[in-house]
Amino acid sequence: MARIAIVGVGTIGGVTAALLQQAGGHELLLCTRRPMSGLAVETPDGLVKLRASFTTNPTETFNVDWVIVATKAYDVAGTAKWLEQLCSNGAPVAVLQNGVEHRERFAPYVPMEKILPVMVDCPAERQVPDRVRQRGVMHLKVPDSALGRDFVKQFTGTPADATTVPDFLSVVWRKLCFNSAGVLSALVLQPAGVVRGEAMGDVALQIIRECAAVARAEGANLEENVADVVLAAQRAAPADSVNSMLADRQAGRSVEIDARNGVIVRLGRRHGIATPANSMAVALMEAMVAKV
Ligand SMILES: NC(=O)c1ccc[n+]([C@@H]2O[C@H](COP(=O)([O-])OP(=O)(O)OC[C@H]3O[C@@H](n4cnc5c(N)ncnc54)[C@H](OP(=O)(O)O)[C@@H]3O)[C@@H](O)[C@H]2O)c1
Repeated sequence: MARIAIVGVGTIGGVTAALLQQAGGHELLLCTRRPMSGLAVETPDGLVKLRASFTTNPTETFNVDWVIVATKAYDVAGTAKWLEQLCSNGAPVAVLQNGVEHRERFAPYVPMEKILPVMVDCPAERQVPDRVRQRGVMHLKVPDSALGRDFVKQFTGTPADATTVPDFLSVVWRKLCFNSAGVLSALVLQPAGVVRGEAMGDVALQIIRECAAVARAEGANLEENVADVVLAAQRAAPADSVNSMLADRQAGRSVEIDARNGVIVRLGRRHGIATPANSMAVALMEAMVAKV
């Protein structure tokens, strides 16, 4: 059993904390930006009330075995303030964020070999700051390494689908194919059903095809018709579902545009792959957010 710090206790951090508590025996330290004294997570198996220590002080001394980062990709600078102390004894850092640049984001703050990128997938939302609703299984996929295997071990006995995968690169890029098209919904401030229309569906396909082309240039192995598969899945999803970029926009927060679409443009440029649909999405979103 381990002492585990979670930095960022929103939706994903909250669900992760509830799962780790269900494992039994872990000591949990929840590192938050705003003061919190409790957290309840409605899981598919019932309500979990967290028994954990809470702190808002990044300079306080704690000795931990693992640090789990569950902040948004745009909050790296604030997150890094926690890592100096929490990682001072060499604790590894699992990054539960969207995108494909988990290591790159934290490399300025943590030795590369101590960073574990995690692909997280979980239908969940934060209702109020101290209550999270988890609507389905949390999937956690990590590279098949010593660090990956140790991370997975912490979830033994929990309902999480935590596993190592032999081809992590393909797993995160496949997820990015799904996330990249989510920008359309966030741009027009309409839930997922907006891609059911023909014109929006065509633009979604262009965004995903660009993502897949860059993914393959990076070495990911994706099926030939991945864009059609992703669009079909998005069209089959409940029409009123709200992705996290749309939720961020609606709440007036920053958006993960660089982690989800900017990266496709940047890496596309490096490989000489044109990404006009993603470029336009990034430009429009940046202009929209700047206007707010
Ligand atoms: N939501 C999902 O279902 C889902 C699914 C798959 C992947 N993801 C990815 O998982 C990552 C986390 O997303 P999320 O939905 O959990 O985000 P979220 O609900 O917004 O939670 C992020 C948390 O980080 C906290 N935070 C920000 N800066 C901090 C700092 N300096 N110190 C301490 N805490 C800080 C925020 O604090 P405040 O409470 O003060 O805002 C918030 O509680 C993202 O990359 C997202 O794309 C999410």
